[in-house]
Amino acid sequence: MMRSLLIGFAVALAMIAGAPPAGAAPGPNRIPPLLRPHFSFQGVFGRYNKAALKRGFEVFHQVCSNCHALNRVDYHSLSAVGLTKAQIKALAAERQIQAGPNAEGKMFMRPGRPSDPYIPPFPNAEAAAAVYGAAPPDLSLMAVQRKGGPDFIYSILMGFVPAPKGVSLPPNKFYNEYFPGHAISMPPPLAPGAVTYADGTKATVPQMAHDVVTFLNWAAQPHLDERKALGLRVLGFVAFLTILFYALKRQIWKNVDQRD
Ligand code: HEC
Repeated sequence: MMRSLLIGFAVALAMIAGAPPAGAAPGPNRIPPLLRPHFSFQGVFGRYNKAALKRGFEVFHQVCSNCHALNRVDYHSLSAVGLTKAQIKALAAERQIQAGPNAEGKMFMRPGRPSDPYIPPFPNAEAAAAVYGAAPPDLSLMAVQRKGGPDFIYSILMGFVPAPKGVSLPPNKFYNEYFPGHAISMPPPLAPGAVTYADGTKATVPQMAHDVVTFLNWAAQPHLDERKALGLRVLGFVAFLTILFYALKRQIWKNVDQRD
């Protein structure tokens, strides 16, 4: 009885050990582990790198914003990535937004204002899908919505490779190693030099991908720096209280004979 139990146990163990790890199933739909570059905002002491935020905004503005919306970011909040008031005003006025109704009950178009949310390139998802075959999703929360967050976006941007032999793609789809199913409707958005950086940084594909992910993480979590700073202050305060109470305890008990 004991022996057969042991054998059964050993067999079960061998089956578990021999099973391929989840997500690594062989075949054309295999998704490799995400790329994991280091971002300045990761870790307890991590903070947004101001220069990277500004460059990341430039990538978003010059490239991604031609297709993707960023509905949860207001123009005026872009002062946090280093834009001046005048730059923000000019940026908002680049696009028209529908407003109204006016005194005659008619809707009309007006240039954007700093208090508007970033004006999307398409009036709605259907209009965008009609052009690209799939709607480019709003990127405001992408860095916290998708599994892997910043690593996922970075991997998608770096994941455009030629389709492996024998894999045929539907028309207007592109092969991407990290996209579920591999056939993505987004044309590879980054090519060397796609962006002109104001600070003169060389616009390589990994540089632009890294910067824009920093910007998109800020879009999703603009108060990350403050939250971490507050957390550290709270921890410091708790440590201080611990020391204080310990000293107090020793003071109170110092005249009590504690021998037993
Ligand atoms: C020419 C239009 C276009 C440009 C430019 C573009 N995208 Fe896209 N993007 C799309 C479309 C269309 C999809 C939807 C793909 C699909 O569902 O197959 C998409 C999907 C994505 C996804 C995957 C989302 C998901 O559903 O998991 C990410 C991430 C993304 N884009 C980020 C970016 C970033 C960052 C930039 C700028 C560097 C950018 N895109 C530029 C059209 C574009």
